[in-house]
Amino acid sequence: MAFPSISTVFSLLLVLQLSTAKTFKSDTIQEKFIQCFNANSEVALPFSTAFFTPKNASFSTVLQSTAQNLRYLTPSVPKPEFIVMPLSESHVQAAVICSKQLNIHLRVRSGGHDYEGLSYVSETESPFIMVDLSKLRSVKVDIEDNSAWIEAGATIGEVYYRIYEKSKIHGFPAGLCTSLGVGGHITGGAYGTMMRKYGLGADNVIDARIVDANGRVLDRAAMGEDLFWAIRGGGGASFGIILQWKIKLVPVPSTVTVFTVTKSLEQNGTKILHRWQEVADNLDEDLFIRVIIQTATNNGEKTVTTSYNSVFLGDADRLLQIMEQSFPELGLTRKDCVGTSWIKSVLYIAGYPSNTPPEVLLQGKSTFKNYFKAKSDFVKTTIPETALEGLWKRLMEEDSPLMIWNPYGGMMARISESEIPFPHRKGNKFMIQHLTLWQEGDDKNAGKHMDWIRRMYNYLAPYVSMFPRTAYVNYRDLDLGTNKNVSTSFIEASAWGVRYFKDNFNKLVKVKTKVDPDNFFRHEQSIPPLPVEARCL
Ligand SMILES: Cc1cc2nc3c(=O)[nH]c(=O)nc-3n(C[C@H](O)[C@H](O)[C@H](O)COP(=O)(O)OP(=O)(O)OC[C@H]3O[C@@H](n4cnc5c(N)ncnc54)[C@H](O)[C@@H]3O)c2cc1C
Ligand SMILES: *[C@@H]1O[C@H](CO)[C@@H](O)[C@H](O)[C@H]1NC(C)=O
Ligand SMILES: *[C@@H]1O[C@H](CO)[C@@H](O)[C@H](O)[C@H]1NC(C)=O
Ligand SMILES: *[C@@H]1O[C@H](CO)[C@@H](O)[C@H](O)[C@H]1NC(C)=O
Repeated sequence: MAFPSISTVFSLLLVLQLSTAKTFKSDTIQEKFIQCFNANSEVALPFSTAFFTPKNASFSTVLQSTAQNLRYLTPSVPKPEFIVMPLSESHVQAAVICSKQLNIHLRVRSGGHDYEGLSYVSETESPFIMVDLSKLRSVKVDIEDNSAWIEAGATIGEVYYRIYEKSKIHGFPAGLCTSLGVGGHITGGAYGTMMRKYGLGADNVIDARIVDANGRVLDRAAMGEDLFWAIRGGGGASFGIILQWKIKLVPVPSTVTVFTVTKSLEQNGTKILHRWQEVADNLDEDLFIRVIIQTATNNGEKTVTTSYNSVFLGDADRLLQIMEQSFPELGLTRKDCVGTSWIKSVLYIAGYPSNTPPEVLLQGKSTFKNYFKAKSDFVKTTIPETALEGLWKRLMEEDSPLMIWNPYGGMMARISESEIPFPHRKGNKFMIQHLTLWQEGDDKNAGKHMDWIRRMYNYLAPYVSMFPRTAYVNYRDLDLGTNKNVSTSFIEASAWGVRYFKDNFNKLVKVKTKVDPDNFFRHEQSIPPLPVEARCL
């Protein structure tokens, strides 16, 4: 082998120097953080088991554990400087105090389902640390009081299970996917099969404990009604770290009925879907019928399938009567209907096989890990059949497209737009979730799928809500705009802010300016405070 050239030696030296410098720098940050943490936490953090640096073999496992979108785990995506896993509330306080003191950017994760990976990735600020709340997951149900205190790191499935354990006639109206972390989920609204009867998870929160930007623990009385308003739907990680929610339980019947009926295009799928749009938000409030739209191959020909996936809070007799009256076009028959319990309906709608025991919910495991990009829309007038035909054409061009149409109406239409920050109430027939999934994470592939979903979103523009074209904050979509410049972000943010929150965006900015004027809790789409110059206007 020839001697290496001078320039190679030089660049090797440079690399060595750079990496030493980097190691030195991060060691110092870690050391300083640990020192600060020990000085500020009432209970010592066992660093050997609850603090992970990239040098620890378990770092990747912990980082990947609950992360749902594989798009944000590829090697080129920035990784946290270290991960802190609090075991007590005082650890969360110390993490806030120390990252503030040392000026290290902080991200917080509960269940890891953020669509744009905002809970475990910062593409804009470095270094950053991640506070993972997965060890704070107690659920205390008080049936007498009709309430429960639930910690941020618990999954919504654990919450459902702990309620079911104490009572077969109590439930909670939140997400369909059982691995969602309640810490992030409820901050954005939290809808599920009982939303038409009881509203969102966030509509049923009665108290909370949070850590604010100064590291204080505040409950509802201490934080005041404005901040308590903002955390119930104003989106995650803008106002503080949720430690616990106090939720109000709702009654559920001892028998519920579930069904899934699938229609392809050849089975009048387009006509039936057109009809569903007309009835979905007017059906009996005990009835939730969502439509899952996918592509399939039938005798070598691509087609589109529409699956009517439903939970009814009652028995099959009453369900069949309601369907005969309101939506006979679907042709629901008794043999499509499965009578079951509320907790089994939770497993059914989450996609577990029918004999799965409810205890599976305690594992808090997710069944969905993909490379994906998603978007959302709200629909106020029926999309005509000709537009649906155009939509089918586009779906058939993509490898794994998925759409979920979710009915509104009922209680959703009776709660005022400003009751909590989630504003999508009266006048919305249904919400669309657009998704495209793929398997390998190479950038070339990703670009193709991202382009596809953006084109489809443009195609649908004339048929969905306009001025603003509204979106669901829990289906975080960075295409709608991001905070790029701290000093102008309150202007940039209005682009995405009014889509998620409509007029409530203004009040969210006011609350933010009051409780976190220095913008400690921030990310690509966090609520910005008003800049100092604008505060006295
Ligand atoms: C497969 C799948 C299914 C879904 N199904 C539904 C559904 O049925 N209904 C529905 O409404 N939504 C659904 N969602 C969306 C879901 O509600 C949001 O992604 C939600 O933000 C997830 O919360 P998390 O704690 O799991 O996520 P995380 O990624 O941990 O957090 C999401 C956001 O909240 C912040 N955050 C996390 N914890 C806290 C905390 N303790 N305090 C303050 N901020 C915090 C994070 O920093 C991040 O910005 C689904 C998402 C996925 C991936
Ligand atoms: C990480 O590595 C350090 C140094 O080897 C070790 O002391 C510590 O216990 C490890 N932490 C975890 C959580 O495994
Ligand atoms: C489709 O609808 C038409 C008219 O309503 C009806 O005559 C026909 O039987 C239906 N076809 C199928 C496959 O259901
Ligand atoms: C942010 O905006 C301010 C005010 O307009 C401007 O002076 C500054 O250069 C901008 N910073 C960046 C990084 O773009």
